[in-house]
Amino acid sequence: MDCGAEREPASIWRCECGGLLDVVTTGVEITRAELDRRARSRKKPYNSGVWLYKELVHPLVRDDLIVTRPEGNTNIYTHAMVSEFAGIAKLSMKHEGENPTGSFKDRGMTVGISEARRLGHKAVGCASTGNTSASLASYAALCGMRSVVFIPSGEIAYGKLAQAMAFGARVLQIKGNFDDAMRIVQEACGRLGLYLLNSINPWRIEGQKSIAFELIQQLRWKPPDWVIVPAGNLGNTSAIGKALVELRDLALIEHLPRLAAVQAEGANPFYSMWKEGLERPPTLAKPETLASAIRIGNPVSWKRAMRAIKATNGVVEQVSDQEIMDAKAVIDSSGIGCEPASAASLAGAKRLRERGIISSDDSVVCILTGNILKDPGATVDYHTGKINGIEPRYKNAPVEVPPDIESVTKALR
Ligand code: F0G
Repeated sequence: MDCGAEREPASIWRCECGGLLDVVTTGVEITRAELDRRARSRKKPYNSGVWLYKELVHPLVRDDLIVTRPEGNTNIYTHAMVSEFAGIAKLSMKHEGENPTGSFKDRGMTVGISEARRLGHKAVGCASTGNTSASLASYAALCGMRSVVFIPSGEIAYGKLAQAMAFGARVLQIKGNFDDAMRIVQEACGRLGLYLLNSINPWRIEGQKSIAFELIQQLRWKPPDWVIVPAGNLGNTSAIGKALVELRDLALIEHLPRLAAVQAEGANPFYSMWKEGLERPPTLAKPETLASAIRIGNPVSWKRAMRAIKATNGVVEQVSDQEIMDAKAVIDSSGIGCEPASAASLAGAKRLRERGIISSDDSVVCILTGNILKDPGATVDYHTGKINGIEPRYKNAPVEVPPDIESVTKALR
């Protein structure tokens, strides 16, 4: 993306010039009718909500090399309480927490691991705030590859750490933050011959595009006015924007939705870049937010993400931890549920509505990126009022009662 050099797909994840790589697929022809036929047939590999779009995500992988669980096919939800909270009647949520390991990362990982296999790699690595490591560990185990994950020590939610350990990854707890882990994993992969599967790897982006492909197909090819996504390392913002532009260029949609990327206030370098018109995002040495998945101060995909925002006439927003936790509590109490970072999308929708950027009759889809069970600690601490500086406005704390019917009756009266 920096020097403009072109090359065939190979075992590299960064350009020789140090810049990011970008996959360009040429000569693809695909129709709505064919994609709808595949969706109905559910025949392998099209039973995966990623490989249904094979020509658009990775046309070069032989079907027998594809490692799939299968992912995608996630549901879209609406709920009056959520719409009311945001002040947007036509608001829906696509729940990427319904993927096999509980987050959207599986979409990029199935493509990344399949590419690793195509290239003949035996071991893969990533840095992670948790979800990528859970996904990598699972997909590597499925096809008998070794995996090494670099996670910031003490900073990732237990659900995610548990998955990485359980799926058999070698877990390295780096004494530092995610950005330290991201820096060191790149050096380590180069030196130790591991194939890097962070979203710096362009094939991860190609897989994650399928969130947008599937969303638009589920909406019978009628795009919403807005797609809103939580933003950390900025792979997902990049992928969704790239997908929307491709859909338009293939004449599969008539108009482009606007993309909104939402960051946490304490981890907002992309927001600062956007707001202040900077050449590049400032690096935050100590990013801070309760939403540990997006606690990132030096996002690697900022250039791709800015391209996506510009191409879709999009916006970047920031929200506080209080707003994130309130939005999460509303999504949770509606029966849908998500992890904290995911709720940044709804919190962002509310802010953009309040600022008049989204109007009350716009149709809006918030992407919920991760499952509620990823981070039970955050949920329990919120409802029991144990999070410093956060007012649990939607508190639902358990009550302790002695084991007799009188006490129970009293408690429920
Ligand atoms: N939501 C969740 C639940 C995430 O896990 C992440 C990123 C994001 C949103 C942000 O997406 O990085 O593409 O902008 N998690 C990465 C990880 C960093 O290591 O699991 P992004």
